[in-house]
Amino acid sequence: MDVVEAIHTRRSIRAFKPDPVPREVLRSILRAALQAPSWENTQPWEFAVLGGEVMKNVKEALAAMGQAGEKPHLDFPWPKFTGPYMERLRSDGRRLVRELRLRQDCPDSLRRWRTSMRTFFDAPNGVVMYMDASLSQWSLLDMGIAAENLMLAAWEHGVGTCALAAAVAYPEVLRSLLDLPESKKMVLGIALGYPDLSQPAATFRSSREPMEGLVTWHGFD
Ligand SMILES: Cc1cc2nc3c(=O)[nH]c(=O)nc-3n(C[C@H](O)[C@H](O)[C@H](O)COP(=O)(O)O)c2cc1C
Repeated sequence: MDVVEAIHTRRSIRAFKPDPVPREVLRSILRAALQAPSWENTQPWEFAVLGGEVMKNVKEALAAMGQAGEKPHLDFPWPKFTGPYMERLRSDGRRLVRELRLRQDCPDSLRRWRTSMRTFFDAPNGVVMYMDASLSQWSLLDMGIAAENLMLAAWEHGVGTCALAAAVAYPEVLRSLLDLPESKKMVLGIALGYPDLSQPAATFRSSREPMEGLVTWHGFD
């Protein structure tokens, strides 16, 4: 698979087979993440790769937070979207609810969905991306590029991913279980595993705005 094909075929996977991703495959995926460009090569990213018992414990601890009624509290404040951004979020969100047959009128069904998001959609593996508190917003851009490298490399290996802000909604739980100091800020969780293609959560395709609305051309005939 070439990189452009990977870019166009990758999608978020939200249903996984239980089979763990082999360590060598994970190493190769992480090598691609580490290859990302960054502001003056500062390489602000750090990655905790989760598997086996640790992954199980992390998922259980995150689920317990939600069950205890703890409100999510990201290290980087939850964004407030308005205008066209809110529109895009809503229109894909409505389609996702329909296609995945989530019951919007059923608080239990929505609670289960939120929990599954915070627990890496029960993927066998996960990555937590974090960075030092001394870094600036620019480093978040570098983190995003590294996350995309990771997700594309995973796709090339047949491994599905989903970037998950929800998985870092209880950052203190991750710091505690991963033995990280308060100075490390949780940026993003990424679920990893082999897609369970029998589930609509593994086949759902998000939409994109047409090029005309977002790209302007200057100096062309
Ligand atoms: C920074 C970031 C945070 C995200 N957080 C979540 C999340 O908490 N829950 C979720 O289901 N998807 C999450 N996603 C996945 C997006 O919803 C998804 O990338 C977007 O809808 C486009 O769909 P695609 O990845 O299938 O192309 C996140 C993506 C990014 C880049």
